[in-house]
Amino acid sequence: MTARLCVLVSGRGRNLRALHAACADGRIDGCITRVVCNQPQAAALEFAEQAGIACRPLDHRGFATRADFDAALADAVAESQPDWVILAGFMRVLGAPFVQRFGGRMLNIHPSLLPRHRGLHTHRSALEAGDAEHGASVHFVTDELDGGPVVIQGACRVHPEDDEAGLAERVMSDIELRIYPQAVAWACAGRVQCRQSTVYFDGAPLRAPLDMTALEEGF
Ligand code: GRF
Repeated sequence: MTARLCVLVSGRGRNLRALHAACADGRIDGCITRVVCNQPQAAALEFAEQAGIACRPLDHRGFATRADFDAALADAVAESQPDWVILAGFMRVLGAPFVQRFGGRMLNIHPSLLPRHRGLHTHRSALEAGDAEHGASVHFVTDELDGGPVVIQGACRVHPEDDEAGLAERVMSDIELRIYPQAVAWACAGRVQCRQSTVYFDGAPLRAPLDMTALEEGF
């Protein structure tokens, strides 16, 4: 049965576009039934509107407290009756009640090799730390920021000549846009689950996150 996806965005929407394309060409057995965006001017929102996806702009600045925003967000998400809640560059920290409501069926993509470099400015942090490798991770969302169990990670070498923008672009185009559609496809197909902080792939617990070879092997 085609899974219903509610995608939360704040920014450019490159991951959203990749997910939309993968739903359209059948790589994901899913349908984006709603996009919720907290930034009225976001390119992601403009794309979703032009693509004919049902959109719910929800500007967080219109709410007195974080809890009020979270409650409205939870209602906006729940109304669309999603099987999966997909965070695709959603730049608000979600409170525990929201995470509990959708926990176990909520994925996020984070531009680092978690657990390294949680939070913002991950590319800069990786360069400053002198990391030899950097990348991106798809993980289940828990109430620990960027701390949930990881499904898949993709890594790339950091080159001496890399700057923050160039590294960010390589992580996005070579890794994020490949691993997120794949992880969402697995989720929609029922192949990936999270129970008691453990990720299961085809029913077996993952001892370590999957890597890009999982894509090449056509998992
Ligand atoms: C991506 O780098 C994603 O990993 C992070 O936010 C960024 C969103 O970019 N969580 P986009 O809106 O998908 O272009």
